[in-house]
Amino acid sequence: MTQDFSAPRDGILAEHSARPETIAADAIVTFLTEGGVGSGAVAAIDAAADGIISRLASAGEITGKRCECVPILAPPRLLAGQLVVVGIGKREDVDAGVLHRAAATAARQLAGRPRARVVFAADPSWTPRQTEQAVAGAAIGMVGQDLYRAEKKRTSFGTTVWLGAAADTVARGAIIAEGVNLARRLVNMPPDDIYPATFAEEAARVAGRTGMDIEIWDEERLARERCNAILAVGRGSSRSPRLVLLTYRGAGRTDGRPDMAFVGKGVTFDSGGLSLKPSESMLTMKCDMSGGAAVVAAAATVAALRLPIDLVAAVGLAENMTGPAAYKLGDVITARNGTTIEVHNTDAEGRIVLADVLDVVRGLSPARIVDTATLTGACMVALGHDVAGLFANDQEWCDRVARAARAVGEPVWQMPMYPEYDDQIRSEVADIKNVGDGRWGGAITAAKFLERFVGGIPWTHVDIAGPAFAEKPRPWIDGGATGAFVRPLVELARGPA
Ligand code: BES
Ligand code: MN
Ligand code: ZN
Repeated sequence: MTQDFSAPRDGILAEHSARPETIAADAIVTFLTEGGVGSGAVAAIDAAADGIISRLASAGEITGKRCECVPILAPPRLLAGQLVVVGIGKREDVDAGVLHRAAATAARQLAGRPRARVVFAADPSWTPRQTEQAVAGAAIGMVGQDLYRAEKKRTSFGTTVWLGAAADTVARGAIIAEGVNLARRLVNMPPDDIYPATFAEEAARVAGRTGMDIEIWDEERLARERCNAILAVGRGSSRSPRLVLLTYRGAGRTDGRPDMAFVGKGVTFDSGGLSLKPSESMLTMKCDMSGGAAVVAAAATVAALRLPIDLVAAVGLAENMTGPAAYKLGDVITARNGTTIEVHNTDAEGRIVLADVLDVVRGLSPARIVDTATLTGACMVALGHDVAGLFANDQEWCDRVARAARAVGEPVWQMPMYPEYDDQIRSEVADIKNVGDGRWGGAITAAKFLERFVGGIPWTHVDIAGPAFAEKPRPWIDGGATGAFVRPLVELARGPA
């Protein structure tokens, strides 16, 4: 199955630059820096439209500041219904992340009504990577979280046209957006619709579409594989746990060892278990499979892009509930790698699930592992809503993960992994316990717990508890699932930039 990068996807296509006054569209979107119109795509549009942009800029009505998005209705001398001028800030600071958000902001605003045809004007000065991330942004911004609303708040454009962009660049951007929107949809779906078995079915559909191999381990197989940790977390639920293993062979290495493993936390709902969460904290806990959704979506994107890499993606799926068989405080679980875990808090379930998934992946001997998980509230206390925490046993690999994330505009910050933190997860009864001493440094003690299961393979853990889910909308994206870390994982799979 080969990928035709010149074929339009989902109504997103490239066209050669045309004279702006001849473009028929509901809207033309153009990108403006704080320096004013200058030269390039925006200058050509400004000239065709009787200098309307430069006049509004001189009057101070348009500044070009980041995420400013000004619609000029019935623009002079243009056929298009409106001209949307979206700010991208200072010229010297423009990068792929800025363009991604700017394009998404304009698309989100325009998608508030049905639009048959929206034209975006790429600037000739942009690199292919920048254009691609802008294309992705536009296709993400036009999709909302109202999956179950009769009256939609966002309607995807009939056709999106990127002017002055290469067809393969536009196709790649559209594929990346498809991945991010897939992750968002899975996370935004209600927990009664997406639980371990149905998540696995979704992954199987995605694998079928993109030509990946998939294994789904049910309860029986998990028991045979000694995945007692995953089983323990899932025991309180009427929905049994699963493990999903996706394989993509883009390099076809002869030793069978994957170049990279993606691992995701797939707790489809986290009630806290017997250490029950208060209602307000529980409300958004359908988001607790965001890491799992991100790795499935990223693997699918890597496969759709036909990247030359051998990859496995593994997701541990369980619903953390309080049913009669629920795992209890004081229980001791023997994880797949033989480590015994004393349960001090059933709400610290993500690390328990990941213990077995990491061990399964370790057994496949990948060169490197990256896991992503909505693991701790403590990470949000440390870094806030927008920044993911990085934790690693290998600095070079961690630097690569950080570089990939920043290259696509997702902020990350590395946290320390001093050996002293290991003391905090010692147990009197078992090898380790599943929480630290008290809440301090809680994101790090969680990472220290995971480290026990990677068997020395270079590994980076990404805590996305903050960025995965937005309670409020932002200018560039509706509230709800954000698709956090899909784009960084795809970027990572492309190798050192
Ligand atoms: N899923 C939560 C972490 C979380 C919190 C994700 C908020 C997204 C938003 C995780 O399973 C959890 O409950 N962690 C506990 C651990 C504690 C009991 C040691 C936490 O962070 O409070
Ligand atoms: Mn929890
Ligand atoms: Zn959780």
